[in-house]
Amino acid sequence: MCRRRNPVRLLAETSASHDHAVGASNGRERERARNVLEIGTSSGEARLLRGKELTSRLREDIAQSAHTLTLRGGASPLLVTILVGSNPSAEAYRTSIVRTLHTVSIQHRGLTLPAETTKSTLIETLHELNGDSQVTGILVLMPLPEHISPDTVLEFLSPLKDVDGITPTNAGRLHLGLPSLRPSTPQGGIELLDHYGIPIAGARIAVIGRSNVVGRPLASLLTRRHATVTLCHRQTRDLSGITREADIVAVAAGHPGLVTGDMLKAGSTVLDFGVNIVDGKVVGDANPESIGAVAAAYSPTPGGTGPVTAIVLARNTIAAGYAALSGDLDHVVDVLPDCH
Ligand SMILES: NC(=O)c1ccc[n+]([C@@H]2O[C@H](COP(=O)([O-])OP(=O)(O)OC[C@H]3O[C@@H](n4cnc5c(N)ncnc54)[C@H](OP(=O)(O)O)[C@@H]3O)[C@@H](O)[C@H]2O)c1
Repeated sequence: MCRRRNPVRLLAETSASHDHAVGASNGRERERARNVLEIGTSSGEARLLRGKELTSRLREDIAQSAHTLTLRGGASPLLVTILVGSNPSAEAYRTSIVRTLHTVSIQHRGLTLPAETTKSTLIETLHELNGDSQVTGILVLMPLPEHISPDTVLEFLSPLKDVDGITPTNAGRLHLGLPSLRPSTPQGGIELLDHYGIPIAGARIAVIGRSNVVGRPLASLLTRRHATVTLCHRQTRDLSGITREADIVAVAAGHPGLVTGDMLKAGSTVLDFGVNIVDGKVVGDANPESIGAVAAAYSPTPGGTGPVTAIVLARNTIAAGYAALSGDLDHVVDVLPDCH
């Protein structure tokens, strides 16, 4: 289970706040125990793993961490999002980020560059933002226009401002178990499982999707948490055979209705990261009616993993502020939970 170092470390700085921290932590243990109990006593109705409760709790932690950052002389956190061209899903994602940042008083600056922006202009923009001490975090929204490879971002974004953990430095450090800025979606998914007391250590977990932002880092993080992970993709043979053996099925494929009840072991958990628009409605990668009859718990779409991603991104912006203060990634653990 993630050990959350931050509140204790931060609150230990003022003894008056310490009792509050202990009380809060006991409250969270009670909340987690209640969640475990409710899952264990489920009467055939699958439990919904909603992101809302967890995001409210994380908001409190973020406010404390932001306060401590400024007390230590750090810049007031500012996230810059860059959109090149126009894309409805990227714009919707930016809107939800802005809304979430607002709830935790983190500043946002949105840069929208024209679709014909050249690779060298994007590199110049990244250089400028990398060197701007007012900017704590940078997120380049995907997809980029076809003439700019996403690798450009990996190569030229400063790892200290890489709030979605995509640069080779952060990805490599994550795989090695070193402190890093972790991709917000898989990190949030793990914290959602923890919040509901769903055991990870020793569990068999099928991860469907192997992208660098969701599936692959998720598999790495889960492995570090002692799960036995099978990473699946389009060429995986007998996907259902693998998912039917899994205690947890995590899906990030961008394929609506991919996971159905007949692919699950009774009593398993489904963590659905998919965000798809079907007939004007947002749906996940799992079919809720079908999985709800077999699984013990699943994250609904919308309302499951999505809100957690945005709040973890906000927390990463603060963590990047700590990285800027110290000039390295080792201090991001002052803000992030220790999941290794
Ligand atoms: N909840 C959130 O906060 C959040 C955040 C980010 C993304 N998302 C959503 O998560 C989904 C995945 O995003 P992504 O960026 O990871 O997508 P991606 O880069 O397109 O990767 C999709 C992955 O799924 C695999 N896949 C697709 N269809 C499959 C199938 N039928 N069977 C098995 N594997 C299949 C692909 O396999 P191959 O490698 O073989 O092609 C690929 O590895 C999207 O719906 C996206 O909108 C949600």
